Amino acid sequence: MVELGDIVVKDIIKVYKTGKSEVIALRGLDCTIGGGKILAIMGPSGCGKTTLLNIIGGLDRPTAGSINIDGVNLVDLSDADLVKHRRQRVGIVFQFFNLVPTLTARENIELPMRLAGKNSEEMTSRSAMLLKLVDMEPRGTHRPDEMSGGEQQRIGIATALANDPPIILADEPTGELDTATGQQILHLFQKLRDDYKKTVVIVTHDQRIGQIADTVMTIVDGRITSTMTGAEFHEKATIPANQSVPSPS
Ligand SMILES: Nc1ncnc2c1ncn2[C@@H]1O[C@H](COP(=O)(O)OP(=O)(O)OP(=O)(O)O)[C@@H](O)[C@H]1O
Ligand SMILES: [Mg+2]
Repeated sequence: MVELGDIVVKDIIKVYKTGKSEVIALRGLDCTIGGGKILAIMGPSGCGKTTLLNIIGGLDRPTAGSINIDGVNLVDLSDADLVKHRRQRVGIVFQFFNLVPTLTARENIELPMRLAGKNSEEMTSRSAMLLKLVDMEPRGTHRPDEMSGGEQQRIGIATALANDPPIILADEPTGELDTATGQQILHLFQKLRDDYKKTVVIVTHDQRIGQIADTVMTIVDGRITSTMTGAEFHEKATIPANQSVPSPS
């Protein structure tokens, strides 16, 4: 049965051609991400993590293979339909937050809704709800330079949720944050899965991801080298006790 937010990647190959040289970024990669689950992707720099995320997000197309999302193969979509996929089906969270510096937190959250043609009443009520969801209600009128990194990332997550996509893709979302702030952000992803049934794909080097992910997949040189449950990964990971992810209150 197809669940909302199901992602099935089959035999994906991605070759980048620049001038006369070719880089094979993905070399035949298969994975299935169940709807409403968290998949973590790990692996060394240059192994193809962002490439895979971009393909799932419809920001790029594979050279070969298929990506079925809720039963639709992205490879078969026209460019216009791929743009629709990007706008409606996925929300992207970035390492460097990617907020518009001249807009307030609330205006940043409302921007994707504006682009999707939502009316101002809808935008106002949803941005208020999202500010609450990420625990940033008092900061709605602040611009990014008036917020801490963790606060900006929470607004980044609210912005990704603006059009209520079933899938959230995050590329190193805790890469710029200190340990404690990174934990809060991981908790927020956990909440998106548990309370909002989002499918979450997180590229990360953060070993604590094993405590919240359903599956942890490692890629090396464009191929999957291991797939474990979060619990299996957590058992193997060596994290100091004081850095464990506390239970959500
Ligand atoms: N637009 C591009 N043109 C040419 N080569 C590219 C392009 N994007 C990525 N690559 C190459 O593809 C490979 C995979 O890159 P990718 O960005 O997916 O790696 P990554 O696992 O996300 O690395 P990092 O952890 O450093 O972010 C690398 O060898 C990279 O140099
Ligand atoms: Mg990357």
